[in-house]
Amino acid sequence: MSLTTPRSAQAGSRAQKITVQTLRESKRLGRRLSTMTAYDFPTARIVDEAEIDLVLVGDSLGMAVLGYDDTLAVTLDDMIHHARAVRRGTHHAFMVVDMPFGSFHVSDKETVRNALRLVKDSGAEAVKIEGARLSRITAVLAAEIPVVGHLGLTPQSVHAMGGYKVQGRTHAAVEQLVEDALALEQAGVCALVLEGIPREVAARITACLEIPTIGIGAGPDCDGQILVFHDMFHLTFAPAAKFVRRFGDAAALFRDGIEAYRAAVTDGTFPADQESYHLPAAMRTQTNQAGEEAGQRAADAQALAAAGAD
Ligand code: KIV
Repeated sequence: MSLTTPRSAQAGSRAQKITVQTLRESKRLGRRLSTMTAYDFPTARIVDEAEIDLVLVGDSLGMAVLGYDDTLAVTLDDMIHHARAVRRGTHHAFMVVDMPFGSFHVSDKETVRNALRLVKDSGAEAVKIEGARLSRITAVLAAEIPVVGHLGLTPQSVHAMGGYKVQGRTHAAVEQLVEDALALEQAGVCALVLEGIPREVAARITACLEIPTIGIGAGPDCDGQILVFHDMFHLTFAPAAKFVRRFGDAAALFRDGIEAYRAAVTDGTFPADQESYHLPAAMRTQTNQAGEEAGQRAADAQALAAAGAD
């Protein structure tokens, strides 16, 4: 059993709910957006109470939480399951859910059906779609679901790209990225994630757009940044990519705590008397006595059995 108490009045005291309008307004005002991923209720709640602007239930869920090698196996049901938990912990941040690999690849109609399911079943406020898939994105926007775009190193294209490689390193690739970014803005996306591209390219795209860009491995000139929760707190089991900064070591914290717990259980110091429930004083003596008698009987029986075995 574990109890979850309601949020305190002070927690997450920010009055403003972040919406598509706030995102655009932030860009206009030059206010940088802090954004990150979350995949469950406790992390979402901590992220939201820390006044992060946008929480993404990313399909990085596949690696960060489900232990896959990439994002390709993540299903719509996986996304909905985790997004529902994140929804319960998110009150102020703008909540975005990734459309997983395969959920927007077949037709506009199927893409809209899947996006509707994601939003209706999870309570997310927007979906994110990787790549410059204008027809799909236009169809989802026509169903009144805000869309966040994602260009550059799009992890769902890992095989098509021949691995996780920085994108936009040739003149042609840079021009293509700029063209795609403008087309996505024109189509109506409310923000654009730029992943794994040179800083200069991200800066150029950011300067061209009225919607905010959110960078990950795209340098400091984007309108906001995003990091994967588990990367930030050393909860992945691989070397960190160049763009990751570790803001804490939760792995060490957990490891130390678990070792202390194991030691306390094995040496009998956990739970202590003050961590135990008690009978009312009037019943205690009688019950203790009965316990002692039962213990004595068991010890006698054991001694008898041992003597019989000799
Ligand atoms: O899935 C994810 O976490 C993402 C971010 C890295 C942008 O798409």
